[in-house]
Amino acid sequence: MTTLPAAQAQSAVSSRTEYEAALQLLRDASRSYYGDGDSILDDAAYDQLRHSVRVWEEENPAEVSPDSPTGLVADGAAPVGDVAHTARLLSLDNVFDSVGLIAWGASVQRRLGREPQGRFTVEPKIDGAAVAARYRDGRLVQIITRGDGSHGEDISHVIGQIDGLPEQLAEPVTVEVRGEVAFTTAQFETANEVRLAHNAQVFANPRNGVAGTLRAKDRPYRLQMTFWAYGAVELDAVAFLPSGAAHAETLSAVAAVGIQTTADSAAGLHVVADLAAAQERVDAIAAMRAELPVGIDGVVIKMNDAAEQAAAGVGSRFPHWAIAVKLPAVERQTVLEQVVWEVGRTGVLAPTAVLAPVEIDGSTVTRATLHNPADIRRRDLHIGDTVTVYKAGDIIPRVQGAVVQLRPEGAQPVALPEACPNCGGAINKAQERWRCAQGTACALPALIEYAAGREMLDIDGLGKTYVAALVASGDVTDVADLFTLTAEQLTAASGSARRATKLAEQIEAAKVLPLSRVFCALGILGTGRSMSRRIARHFGTMDAIRQAGAAAMQDVEGIGPEKAPVIVEQVAALAPVIDKLIAAGVNMAEPQDASAAGGAGPLTGKVVVVTGKMTGPLAAYGRAEMTALIEKAGGRAGSSVNAKTSILVAAPSSGGKPSTKAAKAAELGVEVRTPEAFAELVADYLA
Ligand code: IVH
Repeated sequence: MTTLPAAQAQSAVSSRTEYEAALQLLRDASRSYYGDGDSILDDAAYDQLRHSVRVWEEENPAEVSPDSPTGLVADGAAPVGDVAHTARLLSLDNVFDSVGLIAWGASVQRRLGREPQGRFTVEPKIDGAAVAARYRDGRLVQIITRGDGSHGEDISHVIGQIDGLPEQLAEPVTVEVRGEVAFTTAQFETANEVRLAHNAQVFANPRNGVAGTLRAKDRPYRLQMTFWAYGAVELDAVAFLPSGAAHAETLSAVAAVGIQTTADSAAGLHVVADLAAAQERVDAIAAMRAELPVGIDGVVIKMNDAAEQAAAGVGSRFPHWAIAVKLPAVERQTVLEQVVWEVGRTGVLAPTAVLAPVEIDGSTVTRATLHNPADIRRRDLHIGDTVTVYKAGDIIPRVQGAVVQLRPEGAQPVALPEACPNCGGAINKAQERWRCAQGTACALPALIEYAAGREMLDIDGLGKTYVAALVASGDVTDVADLFTLTAEQLTAASGSARRATKLAEQIEAAKVLPLSRVFCALGILGTGRSMSRRIARHFGTMDAIRQAGAAAMQDVEGIGPEKAPVIVEQVAALAPVIDKLIAAGVNMAEPQDASAAGGAGPLTGKVVVVTGKMTGPLAAYGRAEMTALIEKAGGRAGSSVNAKTSILVAAPSSGGKPSTKAAKAAELGVEVRTPEAFAELVADYLA
């Protein structure tokens, strides 16, 4: 078999020899795609190669091979059986963007000789395998694969294994429904667990898994799949619907007798007036793709009206009245170059795949998560393997499996670490997820250094050495411990009382920082600086964040159903640390930004430094409250007086010499206001 890595398959076809080689590769790839094996080319590479072949064929019509796969249903590669289809089971033509959709609209108009009067339907293109299911008198009697479109294989042995395709209907109807069978995400996970339990190789992707499962007769286990109907035809000359039923009506009638249709999918079936509205639905479905419980590889647009469908007609491979707008591939093949091991906050050893760069869903992927050592072994991953990588939207890319046919000779299985990759110490292998025997203590210094960073707690004197000393002495066991360090502890770690005083000042100043900084300092996976800001702004207080469930967490922009429960779980796990932070007097509120609230505040663009005890209307205001007040009025709280300071709020010195901050303000010509005068300035923002 010709085996070409995806990257090599993308070149244009420019000669007869290249054309023939490309045809062979297309045939091999589509045979493995429609058969039981793993695809040897991912969809994007396949589409690219097919496109190059078609371009060459258009330019060289006299040289087109009579058995070119581009002229056949399923590229002539699907296993053909001996059951004749009642009516040809066609495929769909593809476009890749709104320009292609408009061009399809123009072609439809040409065929009709006028603008379509009827409406269009928009539904998901489920990424599975096409089947025809025959019901006689309400009983499911036969399931047939698509095959070459005119004959398919009888796969009735899977009756009972497909959700949405009941064995008995609510009414004794005779009809043939056509649709897609696929594994939902949950079914796919279960399927792979079952496969592993039976020492079978995991499926590289859901579609391959379904193609194999539909045809498998003698497996010692059964895997559940799901069906969505996208059409129906009459069977045994018994009319199911009055002739002339529109597409949406046909699917409603199919649903009414108890069969699941694309209209029942989360993406739904929408009837729209024109292609501009159809494009809007395409965009909406594309946006929800990562959250859908089943994989889709496009959106299908059909003319709803039966008479207009008939007028547009059908070609040899696909109907002219329907078109698929393909979505970008979320699954690509690339090469696994190496596996690196990192130690997480809790001491868990996390393997990450380093991949040959590959473009997936709009971004270049070079790393992907692997789960744990046992999973790497179960998937039998080797360095140099061509692997399928899945990524959709914000989801962290993950390696699904290896394409065993493409394994280079002599490839070695992924090596598992013998010592903790962070500290070199022993590994606790008691569970599937290996941990450093030191547990949390192993990764703690890195977390504390991160938390002290400028964008988080901004304790810039707290470098690697001091952090190491504080962790080694046991004085710091989590981020919250920083706020209760004594002068002695800081002196011991930094080796100087002067340095200790500076550190203590910085730590004190960190207590009044906005919640977003403190939240970010917790090191919760997936909550970097901007995400922490979004979360803090959305909820306002740590209390509200702690009360949020996964659904509420998803209201934050950029947090989807995958991320939300992970964040909620980690916030809950950090309860003891958060409680300690609160007890230490760390600010747990995000100031409402005056400009964000829709107008400039009196302090917009100003940096305000506060010193000494507040008096008058501000007498009850501590540091945290002052910071919140300043930010509410549009300003930013500073910790030291410098050239950027706009206002210093300071009570007049009572007889003695002015405070250092006041002296500095006088030197730099910074405006100094008493608490009373400042209160007047921000009167609208006082509680
Ligand atoms: S309509 C005559 N609708 O995609 C109309 N097909 O790449 C032909 N597919 O062969 C099909 N979801 O197996 C249609 N909502 C949908 C679909 C859908 C998935 C599959 C179908 C088709 C293939 C073309």
